[in-house]
Amino acid sequence: MATTSKRLLVSDLVSTDKIDQVPSNYIRPITQRPDFQNVVHDSIPLIDLNNLNGPNHANVIKQIGEACADHGFFQVKNHGVPESIIANMMQTARDFFNLPEQERLKNYSDDPTKATRLSTSFNIRTEKVANWRDYLRLHCYPIDNFIDEWPTNPASFRAHVAEYCQSTRNLALQLIAAISESLGLHKDYMNTQLGKHAQHMVLNYYPPCPQPDLTYGLPGHTDPNFITILLQDEVPGLQVLKDGKWVAVDPVPNTFIINIGDQVQVMSNDKYKSILHRAVVNCDKERISIPTFYCPSPEAVIGPAPDVVTDDEPAVYRQFTYGEYYEKFWDNGLEKCLDMFKTS
Ligand code: OGA
Ligand code: NI
Repeated sequence: MATTSKRLLVSDLVSTDKIDQVPSNYIRPITQRPDFQNVVHDSIPLIDLNNLNGPNHANVIKQIGEACADHGFFQVKNHGVPESIIANMMQTARDFFNLPEQERLKNYSDDPTKATRLSTSFNIRTEKVANWRDYLRLHCYPIDNFIDEWPTNPASFRAHVAEYCQSTRNLALQLIAAISESLGLHKDYMNTQLGKHAQHMVLNYYPPCPQPDLTYGLPGHTDPNFITILLQDEVPGLQVLKDGKWVAVDPVPNTFIINIGDQVQVMSNDKYKSILHRAVVNCDKERISIPTFYCPSPEAVIGPAPDVVTDDEPAVYRQFTYGEYYEKFWDNGLEKCLDMFKTS
């Protein structure tokens, strides 16, 4: 029988202890395992953003609206984030996770309320089964409030990550306007509802795993925020639920994966769905993924947009602050919290 790990980070369990079995605290009950045989390989819509500000504007908005309603997920190309900024970001993440254990652990905390921290799994204070993942979490907007907390090793960390955050924020703002417009709302409606805005980023590191069929990098969950912009390396691992089946979404170079979070589902009054997705691990290769979580500010009041609520489609959710929602999410172990905010 495998034993429980004494290391703080799963990466060190793999690289230093060289374990050949998954420790028992990572093993899911039989009915909750990844079941690779029943995963299908498919793609999600790929939308070219080149024409978002050109003569084809209306068509791009329509594609975005359809993708949000039918999939909750899409990919974008010609997104305006320069390749060099993306390459620097990915290399910085790789260099960070390659630092010696003692150096990485200087950033360690298991307190979910800390803005900058290296941690493991999801929330080890509340969860019953651990996940095969280490992660560095950063708050990145307004950047001057947080950058002094960020790691300084590797030496270029702050410069490269800051450039990436600023560039992905521009993309997020364009997508928020497009999603707003696609629902028939004024393009600034959602932007205004987000209050002062917040942007978080996670550097996910999924080490190779000796028994990937027993555990997850991240189990099925929806993102609690507004929209997510996901950068991933060339190693597959993301799976998205579509019509009751898990679909493996293989990486496409120079694209981002965009998914709508719970707050878009609420504002759209369920016209758009925040979809379950998960990250699986594999025997051979480490995987890095870098989601940017674009969020309302904690005081922002979220609820269905009055213009999408009708007599036939009354408000599904009550109003709440994003801070209230976010606290429930961290306490609830990645379970979807939306049902707790329904009107009836
Ligand atoms: C997440 C997430 C997917 C991935 O961090 O919320 O869904 O592929 N990540 O790492
Ligand atoms: Ni997610």
